[in-house]
Amino acid sequence: KQNLKGVKALMESGITRIPNAYVKPLDERPTKLSAAAAADGNKIEIPVIDLADLDGDGQDQVVKTIGEACEKWGFFQVINHGVPTSVIHSMMQVCQEFFDLPTEEKMELYSDDTLKPVRFGTSYSLSKDTVLEWRDYLRCPCRPLSDFIHLWPAKPSTFREVTMEYSKEIAALAKRLCYALSESLGLESECLYEVIGKHQQILMPNHYPACPNPDLTIGLSAHSDAGGITILLQDHVGGLEVFNEGQWIAVKPLPDAFVVNLADQTQILTNGKYKSVEHRATVNAQRARISISTFFQPAADAKIAPIPELLGGQPPMYRESLFGVYLRDFFTNRLNRKSAVDSLKL
Ligand code: SIN
Ligand code: FE2
Repeated sequence: KQNLKGVKALMESGITRIPNAYVKPLDERPTKLSAAAAADGNKIEIPVIDLADLDGDGQDQVVKTIGEACEKWGFFQVINHGVPTSVIHSMMQVCQEFFDLPTEEKMELYSDDTLKPVRFGTSYSLSKDTVLEWRDYLRCPCRPLSDFIHLWPAKPSTFREVTMEYSKEIAALAKRLCYALSESLGLESECLYEVIGKHQQILMPNHYPACPNPDLTIGLSAHSDAGGITILLQDHVGGLEVFNEGQWIAVKPLPDAFVVNLADQTQILTNGKYKSVEHRATVNAQRARISISTFFQPAADAKIAPIPELLGGQPPMYRESLFGVYLRDFFTNRLNRKSAVDSLKL
């Protein structure tokens, strides 16, 4: 498997069945729901929150709605979020163009070293994963920009410019969301932004090629995100699923909306009030899919523990940890399919 050049290249080699290395054990394959359960599941949707009033008269109501979504779901979609449609479309376009580059050009950025900041990759890691995943991706840290921008792909020629513009817009949205999250918890507005919003920002465009055996494999295995808050842009294909009350719920793609989810550090900071929820990406036989994740996470040397004001007389549920150490354990646990956040439970 070490000479794989990504799933897209594999498909372009003309295979008609997925290699065994991608066949997941039965309990990790996307479950086919019964018709009744599927009909039921289709009715349940993650909340869609209109941010038009977030800075206006309806602010209190929007903040309240966000708080409810964070407690019940840890996941929601946002519309009227202020990121210009032109920026969204250019970003999707330039990511499509990147994945469409000849394999050899993408391979110039390829690395299987998960600690390398900027890289093109496939699966989580070819050398570490026991079963591979039907996903290629690019990883681009965005802060501080001057440390990373010269390492970002030079092709397509507009990649750096478009990605810089997109990352600025997403940063502004993340800041507004962090303020709203803090307010929904009764904290000072800037409280969560200071910890999870203003430090590391990492962009990860994902490409999931159409797959001849979508029932046997997965694009991205079930996981929660390690950092603070994640903002995801996805195309119209669909495949993202969220685990809620014992079942996988499909997230319906909405044009130009963002999917927002809370990650492990937010669960720890809020002493479990707000959830970092498991999610996964399935693939399909008809269409390739693109999604673009942006992860906002604390500084590596930040000490993360439940915020005292949020304890309300209860003991803290998690012990303090250094985010850099947490991240290292997160990826080790991921390979054993264990939750890193659970290992901090007191
Ligand atoms: C992710 O969890 O980072 C990506 C999920 C998706 O592709 O929808
Ligand atoms: Fe994720």
